[in-house]
Amino acid sequence: MEKWEDNKKHHEGYWGKLYTYLIKNKLNHKDVSGEWKSLFKYELGNKNLFSYIVDSKVVTNDFNKYTSDKNLYLKKRLDKHITKDTDAVIDLGSGWGRHSIHIASSKPSYKIISGELSDSGRRVTEYFTNKYGLDIETFQFNWKDNKSFIKLLSTKKYKEIVIFTSNTIEQIDYIDVAFFQDLLDLPIEKIKVIHIEPVKFQYDGLPFPLSNHYNRNLKAVLDTLVSMDRIKIGDIIPQYWGHNNSLTSKNNILIEWEKL
Ligand SMILES: C[S@@+](CC[C@H](N)C(=O)[O-])C[C@H]1O[C@@H](n2cnc3c(N)ncnc32)[C@H](O)[C@@H]1O
Repeated sequence: MEKWEDNKKHHEGYWGKLYTYLIKNKLNHKDVSGEWKSLFKYELGNKNLFSYIVDSKVVTNDFNKYTSDKNLYLKKRLDKHITKDTDAVIDLGSGWGRHSIHIASSKPSYKIISGELSDSGRRVTEYFTNKYGLDIETFQFNWKDNKSFIKLLSTKKYKEIVIFTSNTIEQIDYIDVAFFQDLLDLPIEKIKVIHIEPVKFQYDGLPFPLSNHYNRNLKAVLDTLVSMDRIKIGDIIPQYWGHNNSLTSKNNILIEWEKL
């Protein structure tokens, strides 16, 4: 099992390389979409052909189609849950901010909050936020210690929020049910949550098939919250989206739930 401290160190290096690239090339870019794409492409090794999963099918497309599909598949779920009364859209385990930055720049009326463990990931998000005047608030976030998240939300007067997680709970071997209980205890009337995480094997009742550090209990935690009448499960769609054709991606599943 990986310690969160080791995971932080790993991602400091991984996203740190992207930050260095960004600073080196910053004068070449004046529009957010071009700079976002350039960084994303660099992260993926500047290749141009991608095999990935949409609606349970493996498709192969170029970088532009790959990124537009990635954005579209998340947008379709956000559009379902965001209303004119939504106070904030929260990206937990946001990495370098690929989703937060795209959403904030395409929907400037949304308030985005991005929580990420690594300083370097948040630094990339903040670079885009400051350069392009995006409405993104970043904070240091740890799935293993929800205090900063709960404290941040306690300072707001939110009545309605939408939270999404994209391949980040995957890195928490056992997530604590108390994480969600503390969130549900806050005086926020409507909380809707979208997960895209590689836990399909949990829904299929299959033995754990992934490398050791991947999540083993998200379904069990959500089932516990259902049995406590704290949440209601919405759509569950196996292989809704997978960013490549690996076993991890094949285990990606969309799970939606809301506070009762
Ligand atoms: C595969 S990346 C996904 C990033 C982003 N959600 C995306 O879709 O681009 C996983 C992210 O989870 C973060 N992470 C790992 N352990 C974490 C923890 N204990 N608390 C919060 N984030 C964590 C990593 O730093 C990394 O940025």
